[in-house]
Amino acid sequence: MLIEKVFARWVLDSRGNPTIQTFVKTKTFQASAIVPSGASKGLHEALELRDNGKAFHGLGVSKAVKNVNTIIAKKLKNTPLEQKMVDEALIKLDGTPNKSFLGANAVLSVSLAVARLIASIKNQPLYEHISNLWKDLTGHVHKHSMPKPMANLINGGKHAPNDLVFQEFLIIPNYNSFEKNAQAVIEVYQELKNVIKEKLGVKCNLCIGDEGGFAPNIQAPEQALDLLQIALQDSGHKKKVSLGLDVAASEFYNNKKYFLNNNLMSCEQLINYYLDLIQDYDLASIEDPFEQDHFSAWSLFMQLLNKKNKKLQVVGDDLLVTNPKRINLAISYGLANALLLKPNQIGTLTEALQAAFIAKKAGWNVIVSHRSGDSEDAFIADLAVGIGASQIKLGAPCRGERTAKYNRLLNIEQEL
Ligand code: PGA
Ligand code: ZN
Repeated sequence: MLIEKVFARWVLDSRGNPTIQTFVKTKTFQASAIVPSGASKGLHEALELRDNGKAFHGLGVSKAVKNVNTIIAKKLKNTPLEQKMVDEALIKLDGTPNKSFLGANAVLSVSLAVARLIASIKNQPLYEHISNLWKDLTGHVHKHSMPKPMANLINGGKHAPNDLVFQEFLIIPNYNSFEKNAQAVIEVYQELKNVIKEKLGVKCNLCIGDEGGFAPNIQAPEQALDLLQIALQDSGHKKKVSLGLDVAASEFYNNKKYFLNNNLMSCEQLINYYLDLIQDYDLASIEDPFEQDHFSAWSLFMQLLNKKNKKLQVVGDDLLVTNPKRINLAISYGLANALLLKPNQIGTLTEALQAAFIAKKAGWNVIVSHRSGDSEDAFIADLAVGIGASQIKLGAPCRGERTAKYNRLLNIEQEL
């Protein structure tokens, strides 16, 4: 089957900014995909091409849309509809290490729409098609399994207009079905609303951040973790739900120091602070605890955890940016033990699958993730199931772009 037409336009993301939707067509079928957008982006991510002009406060995507409708559309017209071939053609056409010629947003929208189109032509669910791609890449066939949700219920950092420096306070339920896990997330979230009302009052404290979690007017990470602990207790889920953090530490780092709780901390001080939090709140996962290039801090932290025999998921997001080269580096230096997989950090589905494979081969967990600016497109739900990811980060059960992922996963579980 040949690609007949590739066409893009701008649509809205969840922050009300423009993003790209691309349609790929054969003679009789068509499919589309919408790409997400981050706020606390890693320095080494592939480039999201924005117009930087007057329109949309600089965030227009007309250049990226034009790249799809001219350069990419011309190249792909009448070429075979095959994922790897299309992705390789896109990578070659772009020709830069960070997709800065065409824009990772332009490239990814085509790559994901192609995946959806192939699945619909084969009359397969998208996760099944991804699972076939995974098999071709890795030689492994896996039984489909549902990822555990990691739900960001309290928002800070760049995702909220409050003074919480840490970006995400997550709950990680561990029941034996996605449906039960989703129910736990919802019940804890609703309980948290009551707890916040009671402890802090309604005014300004029940605002919602970019990922659907509450953005209360508090400052210290301990306050957020305390609220979550009470909500876990009161909702009856304490035994089955753990807590996690996405610190996004690159956002409060300068010159080997971290500005936190009104203190300038060295990495040793920050590590000690984390060790206390891990102990006090029984944390199961911590993401981006250090700045993205502060490798010595990551390595020291991992060594200390090993020495103490502490089981903790240490997740690289800005550190790894879904980039095979950086993941290999982090594996060889022992900087983390889990990969946050965001397809728009690298730009094609094929490269995202390669990134996941490298991490899994090293025995790491792979956590598929949304972005803070997202859309009703639930591609990542199918991606997580298709590659057998251990977890998925999908925000709070609130706002349509977040619930779309929960709803898709509920439906997938029904089908399996
Ligand atoms: P972002 O945040 O999408 O704004 O980068 C998500 C994350 O840091 O995990
Ligand atoms: Zn992150």
